[in-house]
Amino acid sequence: MPNKIARCGYALSLTGGLLLSPVALANLPPVIDPIADQVVSAGGTVEVVVVPRDPERVVPGLTVSNMPDGATFLDNRNGTRTFKWIPSSNDIGSRLITFEAIDASDPNLRSSVSVTVTVNSTGQASQSNGNQAPRVEPLSDRSVQVGEAVSFRVTPVDPEGVVPALFVDSLPAGASFDDNRDGTRQFRWQPNAQQVGDFTINFVAYDENEPSLRSGETVKLSVTSPNAVVIPSNPINPVGSAVEGAPFFVGLQDQFVTLGDTLSLRVVAKDDDGSVPGLAVDPLPERASFKDNGDGTRTFSWQPYPIDVGDTYVQFSTIDANNSSIRTNQSIRINVVRDPNRVVNFPPVINGIRNPTIRAGDTLTQRVQPVDPDFTVPNLSALSIPQGSEFVDNGDGTRNLNWLTDFGDLGDTQASFRAVDAVDSSLSFESTITVSVVDPSTFNRNGERLRDLADRRGFKIGYAAVLQASKVADSQLYRDIAAEEFNIVTPENSHKMGWIQPQRGLFKWEDADEVANYAEQNGMDLHGHPLVWYAQLPGWVQLLDPSNAQQVMREHIRALVSRYRGRVAVWDVVNESFEEDGSYRNSIWFKGMGKDYVRDAFITADQEDPNAVMIYNDYDVAWINPKSDAMYRMVQEEIAAGTPIDGVGFQMHLRDDFSDYDSVERNFERFANLGMDIYITEFDVAMFNGQNDGLQAEIYRRVMEICLRQPRCKALQSWGYTDRYSWRSNFQPLMFTDKYLPKSAYYEWQRVLRDF
Ligand code: XIL
Repeated sequence: MPNKIARCGYALSLTGGLLLSPVALANLPPVIDPIADQVVSAGGTVEVVVVPRDPERVVPGLTVSNMPDGATFLDNRNGTRTFKWIPSSNDIGSRLITFEAIDASDPNLRSSVSVTVTVNSTGQASQSNGNQAPRVEPLSDRSVQVGEAVSFRVTPVDPEGVVPALFVDSLPAGASFDDNRDGTRQFRWQPNAQQVGDFTINFVAYDENEPSLRSGETVKLSVTSPNAVVIPSNPINPVGSAVEGAPFFVGLQDQFVTLGDTLSLRVVAKDDDGSVPGLAVDPLPERASFKDNGDGTRTFSWQPYPIDVGDTYVQFSTIDANNSSIRTNQSIRINVVRDPNRVVNFPPVINGIRNPTIRAGDTLTQRVQPVDPDFTVPNLSALSIPQGSEFVDNGDGTRNLNWLTDFGDLGDTQASFRAVDAVDSSLSFESTITVSVVDPSTFNRNGERLRDLADRRGFKIGYAAVLQASKVADSQLYRDIAAEEFNIVTPENSHKMGWIQPQRGLFKWEDADEVANYAEQNGMDLHGHPLVWYAQLPGWVQLLDPSNAQQVMREHIRALVSRYRGRVAVWDVVNESFEEDGSYRNSIWFKGMGKDYVRDAFITADQEDPNAVMIYNDYDVAWINPKSDAMYRMVQEEIAAGTPIDGVGFQMHLRDDFSDYDSVERNFERFANLGMDIYITEFDVAMFNGQNDGLQAEIYRRVMEICLRQPRCKALQSWGYTDRYSWRSNFQPLMFTDKYLPKSAYYEWQRVLRDF
């Protein structure tokens, strides 16, 4: 606004002067010579000489507005000034910089020139010698049918005119990347029927004299089978939605990082009303951090491992300071490439051991697994272990600290372990845990057990059992509390196809059997999960030709449902078929069979066990929205077609800002009116607003009340029960703490089950 007024003022004095004041006519405003917009890589230099001219030849004043931090605007002592700036990767994005010339004798006479400076990330930091990173000319994504050939030229360019070197990361089997002897290379490939699916291929140009100067271009190649239905895949939320009044990100862009380097990305968000919006990231990649810089920004840091080569998507959210329901999400792609000329050896680590708490009298079974990101097996030893315990070799690179405790062991005792890199013994990792042995009465809970209260109402109260519950360090305590509180259990992972059928026709039943036996021994129902899903698939299914999808799906369903016939009470037959907008997700099953796979799956499952309750399960469908509308239409159609579908599972992975209760109630009602049973299958409430146990408990209470008010709502099952083993453990979404103490949510459920 102020700019506009200044420009008006100038126009008025010019024309007004013409008519009214011959003296003013003599003085004309200065002008600035045109300046081109600038594009620079982070680490590069922008240098612009600003030349003002005044018709009266008096040297005008010069100012700059929106000057970036660290930039200079020095007087050249000849009437001009030089704007100079070396942006860093924190400055990625575009900004408008305005230079203004002010008449020496009349400050109302002024004119300005605005320049857009764009800082991009693709060029890696150039050195102070000004050498800039080469880049690869843009390439478009493409799709190719099995048997067809694809061929394209990859052209690297270097701002300095030297021919950069080129390499390709993740070249598909059978493809070639030949030198055209003109500085370019040719990518050629004829995919075979085993290669149906999406391939991400990174072409990287780098400076041979300075290999750290590099940038990449990624091409997505979709290989389709000749008879498949091709649906363009939905990018994960491409750009933040531009909602009026919502906070927005400044310069947040896709990133590129070379294996061995650490990505450090400053995340900046603004709000037009001047308030400082909140920032969040979900999911946070393993080992990444998102630290508060104390100035309203945060820094996302991540050192990728060899396993991360390729693309990782991360979604950032910025949340309005005054209304947490107003937010903007933006997903970025982080492209990790390997430099073939660089040897990177990562040290080993010992992951996944947290201080265990057990009851005196229990046996601690702490598995210690060292891992090396380079896929070598480290040497593991114990530095100190509690008296009376042993550290046994499991024969698979892991060891177990086994300790049968008694009341004499009450208190905290430490155990320390060391893993040494298999290749470079100077690289090692040490880890110490504190084992707390406590009096069993610590875990006593007031009031009645949830399962007793639920049994009395003919209701099911459930949890998802952690994978290999018999092998976790505190397995006795974990399983005892679960058996006391719940009358239905879902295996959190052991039924998933990637786990249970790692190779075609080869079934690994052990862990699923364990849960089935546990459920029987403790008089619990078993809830199978899931038969058909797009995620957690074994590699061989990810490479499957979609024309085989139907056969593979049916084999899988038959194998699982027949094995547990009469033992599984409820099956999640199909999980997560829909996208957020209500379209079908382009899974391998959808590629092979179109939407008919849903019906086919229910018919196949029902044939194997007509007595089990067969349900469709999905997330973000508990309230009314395009996705639950699509699910509703699907259920209507299946009922009309006579498909044996008995109910709907609503996952309900919530956050503590949830408030759409009315919508949930109406939504349940419309599905109930179709004759569907309702299961709340994966309930948890992530605490985003600090440690507000009360806010969380309120959501637990209200959802339980909605379920109990709805006669068709058969079960409320939480996705785990102790924060210790929650898939969202950072947000403590469950009703027991990580030390197995009941939280407010527990007592709310107890009270509602008793009194409501
Ligand atoms: C999650 C498990 O909790 C994790 O342990 C696993 O790593 C990933 O899957 N929807 C589902 C569940 O249907 O199977 C998912 O479970 C959570 C989302």
